[in-house]
Amino acid sequence: MSPPLQDVADAVESAPSRSVSPADPCTIVIFGASGDLSRRKLIPALYSLAAQDCLARRFAIIGFARTPMTDEAFQQTAVDSVKKFADSSTANGEQCSEFAKALAYVSGEYHHAEAFEKLKQRLEELERAHQLNGNRLFYLATPPDIYPLVVEQLHKAGLAKHPNGQLWVRIIIEKPYGRDLASAQKLNESVLNVFEESQIYRIDHYLGKDTVQNLLVLRFGNGIFEPLWNRNLVDHVQITAGETLGVEQRAAFYEKTGATRDMIQSHVLQLTSLVALEPPAMFDATAVRNEKIKVLQAIRPFTPESIKTDVVRGQYGPGSAPDSSSLLAGYRQEPGVKPDSWTETYVAAKIQIDNWRWAGVPFYLRTGKRLGKRVSEIAIEFRRAPHLVFRGQDLATNALVLNIQPDEGISISFHAKLPGQEMRLKTVTMDFSYQSAFGGGERSAYATLINDCMRGDATLFDRADGVEATWKLVDPILEAFQAHRPKFPNYAAGTWGPREADELLERDGRQWRRL
Ligand code: BG6
Repeated sequence: MSPPLQDVADAVESAPSRSVSPADPCTIVIFGASGDLSRRKLIPALYSLAAQDCLARRFAIIGFARTPMTDEAFQQTAVDSVKKFADSSTANGEQCSEFAKALAYVSGEYHHAEAFEKLKQRLEELERAHQLNGNRLFYLATPPDIYPLVVEQLHKAGLAKHPNGQLWVRIIIEKPYGRDLASAQKLNESVLNVFEESQIYRIDHYLGKDTVQNLLVLRFGNGIFEPLWNRNLVDHVQITAGETLGVEQRAAFYEKTGATRDMIQSHVLQLTSLVALEPPAMFDATAVRNEKIKVLQAIRPFTPESIKTDVVRGQYGPGSAPDSSSLLAGYRQEPGVKPDSWTETYVAAKIQIDNWRWAGVPFYLRTGKRLGKRVSEIAIEFRRAPHLVFRGQDLATNALVLNIQPDEGISISFHAKLPGQEMRLKTVTMDFSYQSAFGGGERSAYATLINDCMRGDATLFDRADGVEATWKLVDPILEAFQAHRPKFPNYAAGTWGPREADELLERDGRQWRRL
């Protein structure tokens, strides 16, 4: 049984429903507006911001994509996506139709200069109609190979800088930001040719999750954890980003990407840097990003030798769903996947951070599709008690676990005496749950980050040197994967990955947490 930390919930007298504040009036242009990301995440996030009064009273949204569509059809798609995907606490029919009135659509080819002229005219018209002053936010949600083209066209159309220096133009660029170090550098070069670094917001939606930001609050908003947060007391760290979903309809993207590019280079290394960073002098973009990059630079680079022992890849074969007996197809049987594909759907890696705080403390990372449970968490596993006073008791180590999703919260495990005559010990947990403390459903990470961008706060976005540092770390892994064909599939859908991933920890006398 886990006795809840009732006091925590009681102490929260009036939890604010959101921590975001209204942004400047602006026009948002979504490139790739007919795509999945726009439908599932961006439109619902913008709606949530509007519904919570976090978008300025005056705003307009223009969808741009190749698919021909009228304004009305785009507005209808937006209403449908809000109903399907928006946070249920904000989805309201009347507000939804009001929101849709602020939407317009421009179709065109990305390599046609005329399409961007048409976009410019539409932007100016809407700015006049909605009495907007001219702040502009461009969101790149197209396939990544089109990013440089859009940036170039924005430049040629004179849209990348505002003639009036008082107003802002910003650009959010979706992941994947490049597919290796060379392409990320090239992309940085083309974007920085047109935009200033201060206009560029490289997004990783994991950083918009409340629990991820709460990691910083836990560490630096409290006096009691930071003294424990180092090699003296921490035995090792486990970071898991597990999904039960398979590749779904994204085979065309995933076949070229794989789990290392899709999850490790971005989300998992972001989490790693937040766990490991030194206290920033303040919570602002420069200080936080400076500390993050120091962590990435201190991670010991992988070599062909260390990859053989410290990195495991996997691909799911047929299996059964963890919570039912329904059969699940193997990755190679999914629509659009090559029958002999050797794209990895699972990666586990052991990394070492060579600095004073973490020397000798391994960080074990794992991510995969079609695993046994949807769960993302960070577990700080502490060293065992130096001397066992209570003989005959085989106890787990103490762990502090940050549950990023789905049951957002924090728990600490320790040992307690079981009631009764004998001295018998049991591992128990103290739990803090976001749901019971603050109520409400899942908050949209995209809404938080879009609002941050509109307010000019880049703390939770990546800088040019940050993305390059992560690619530099994963490049050798990608090269090694490219050079050797693995024996795939090597784990059944619905399980916890290949046997070799267990061996990775067993060799060090440890094991993965059972989730
Ligand atoms: C995306 C990846 O960035 O993150 C997807 O491209 C993955 O493959 C997703 O499913 C996971 O995000 P979340 O928020 O569902 O954990």
